[in-house]
Amino acid sequence: QLNQKHMINLVLFGKPGAGKGTQAQFLKEKYNLMHISTGDVFRFNIKNGTELGTLAKSYIDKGELVPDEVTIKMLQEEVEKNSDADGFIFDGFPRTAAQAEALDNFLESKDMSVNATIALEANDEILIERLLERGKVSGRTDDQDVVKIRNRFDEYNEKTTPVKEFYEAQGKFHSVNGIGTITDITERLTKVIEGLK
Ligand code: AP5
Repeated sequence: QLNQKHMINLVLFGKPGAGKGTQAQFLKEKYNLMHISTGDVFRFNIKNGTELGTLAKSYIDKGELVPDEVTIKMLQEEVEKNSDADGFIFDGFPRTAAQAEALDNFLESKDMSVNATIALEANDEILIERLLERGKVSGRTDDQDVVKIRNRFDEYNEKTTPVKEFYEAQGKFHSVNGIGTITDITERLTKVIEGLK
């Protein structure tokens, strides 16, 4: 299932708090991949007071998705900036069917493709616990109250679930249990990735 350039391009999928960012840190080292987290890019822009940051903040603070047009453009720029990478981990993107289609078309134009989308599965109670805990130390405004967290889950259920169907139809969707130690979960992900080779 690897593409012409023998790259590994992975989409890490899952609800807020599922462990996408945590696992990406390990996988990027192991497979020498460029990690692109759209949430991190937005937070970087917010911190630096850019125009994009101001716009993104107005959505993120409410636990809503940033509009597709803005997010897709930003993601494409991040890929372009790292065009010499051996492959990518897309973390937090795509989050809507329109984003998934845009990613496919964009990668195809570069003779690349998504090899696999791997979902980290965990129940809402565990996710809420993890996010509230993180909110205490990280200062992330969207982690600090249950109403915002639940809104992020609602956005996921409504807008992001179709992304699963999009990749299932391509035979590229995999899921692993996202509960357990971080090391155990990395092993589960590694098994899926090794199966792609
Ligand atoms: P984003 O930053 O992507 O947030 P998220 O999807 O809500 O994901 P999180 O970072 O909360 O969770 P994660 O799955 O990465 O888990 P993590 O590893 O950090 O997006 C934020 C916002 O930006 C969105 O709401 C939206 O507004 C906007 N946005 C971003 N992308 C967008 C897009 N494509 N389109 C439109 N808008 C977009 O782990 C969570 C916590 O759990 C950590 O504290 C971690 O230490 C802990 N943890 C991890 N693994 C374990 C484990 N195995 N056991 C116990 N604790 C664990």
